[in-house]
Amino acid sequence: MPAANSAHATVPRHVAIVMDGNGRWAKRRFMPRFFGHEQGMETLLRVIDVFAARGVQYLTVFAFSSENWKRPDEEVSGLMNLVLIGVAKYLKKLAAEGVRIRIVGDRAGVSDKLRAAWDEAEAGTAANTRIQLSVAFNYGGRWDVVQACQRAVADGLAPAQIDEAALAQRMALAFAPDPDLFIRTGGEMRVSNFLLWQTAYAELYFSNCLWPDFGAAEVDAALAAYAGRDRRFGGVRSAPEGVPQGA
Ligand code: IPE
Ligand code: IPE
Ligand code: MG
Repeated sequence: MPAANSAHATVPRHVAIVMDGNGRWAKRRFMPRFFGHEQGMETLLRVIDVFAARGVQYLTVFAFSSENWKRPDEEVSGLMNLVLIGVAKYLKKLAAEGVRIRIVGDRAGVSDKLRAAWDEAEAGTAANTRIQLSVAFNYGGRWDVVQACQRAVADGLAPAQIDEAALAQRMALAFAPDPDLFIRTGGEMRVSNFLLWQTAYAELYFSNCLWPDFGAAEVDAALAAYAGRDRRFGGVRSAPEGVPQGA
């Protein structure tokens, strides 16, 4: 593990994850893609607790992007159903474990049934404080910026009043600090329209691990890499010259 950097808290307050690789994981087992998504949900349930145990306060996961509607109908409806299954199967457990759930994304585009399940998940965990889980569903970073602008206009702001703070407080994750650490599993090194605004200064971490295989060891590897980063936010290097910056 690289030496901890004193310039920032060694444990990120907010971790954002692109949970990628479910389809490939299933394909390698000669199984349908949906099997990978089912396993991916189990993985999420396990890792929430690991992040909470390590002291992470906010966890935001990408579950369905604005662009995932391009997938075959069968896969899309499978993913929608998985949300209903997940809420029915795990809401009580998550509520008991102190997880506060929020759904972030465009609610207008999903069925009444799904919206009702989300409302139930949010209402049933609203008093929890151990870890704040945000599930990005029908979410796109560009959608988020556009809806924040629309809300600013609807709120009657004049052009000169539309500054970074005015937009930040209207973004989908306005209740949370910006992510400190961005993790993408599955080997692809791209953002795929996740939190474009909020990750301006996130530390990026890419793992070849396919999401269903992600576990405590991978969480710890990502957190160790983060602890060794030198975060500068446009300022100057804090570690003495010659000290390696870690992974
Ligand atoms: C990520 O896994 C989950 C969703 C996008 C819902 P993928 O389904 O993208 O899996 P790969 O990338 O095809 O392996
Ligand atoms: C990003 O993964 C979206 C989610 C994990 C929900 P994708 O698999 O959709 O991204 P691309 O298509 O590889 O960029
Ligand atoms: Mg993918």
